Amino acid sequence: NSNTSGVRERTLIAVKPDGVHRRLIGQIIQRFEMRGFQLVGLKMLRVSEELLSQHYTSLCKKPFYPSLLHYMTSGPVVAMVWEGHNVVRSSRMLVGDTNPTQALPGTIRGDFSVHISRNVIHASDSVEVAQKEIALWFQSSELIEWECCDHDNLYE
Ligand code: PPS
Repeated sequence: NSNTSGVRERTLIAVKPDGVHRRLIGQIIQRFEMRGFQLVGLKMLRVSEELLSQHYTSLCKKPFYPSLLHYMTSGPVVAMVWEGHNVVRSSRMLVGDTNPTQALPGTIRGDFSVHISRNVIHASDSVEVAQKEIALWFQSSELIEWECCDHDNLYE
C-alpha cells in the first residue's frame, strides 16, 4: 500500500483512575476501535510519582499539580498506544476538550465527565509529545506491530 507511512502515527492514551473505577475501559477502547484505529500496546499499571513528574513536567508549577498527582496515583491506570492516520489529532477529538464543561456531547469527556479534575482520560496533544510519552510509558518490546486485515477498507 502506498500510504502506510502516514498510517503509522501513534498516540498515548491513558484511562485515568476515575475511568477505571467507573468501569469505562471497555467503552473507551470500543470508541477507538469503531473509528478504525489499531491498538498496538496495552497495560494496566499503578503510575509512580517519578513517571508522572516526567509526564507532566510542564505542569509542575501549576497550583493543581499536587492534587493531579494524588488523583493519578489514587488507583490503577490503563495505558494504551493507538496507531492510525492522524491518530493524535483524531484522538483529541474523540476525547473532547480538557475541561468537561467545554467538551461536546459525543466525546468521551462530554459523555462521561463533569469536572476538569476528574476528566477520565489522557491523550497526547501533538505527534512530538506522543513520541516522548510513548517512550516514557512503554518499552519498545511492549509495542506490537501487526497487520490490520481491513487495512484496504480504512485506507486508500
Ligand atoms: S494547561 O497547561 O493547564 O493549559 O494545559 P491543559 O491542557 O489545560 O491541562 C494539562 C493537564 O492538566 C490537567 N488539568 C487538571 N488536572 C487537575 N485539576 C485541574 N484543575 C486541572 N487543570 C488541568 C488536564 O487534565 C491535563 O491533563 P491530561 O492528562 O493531559 O488530560
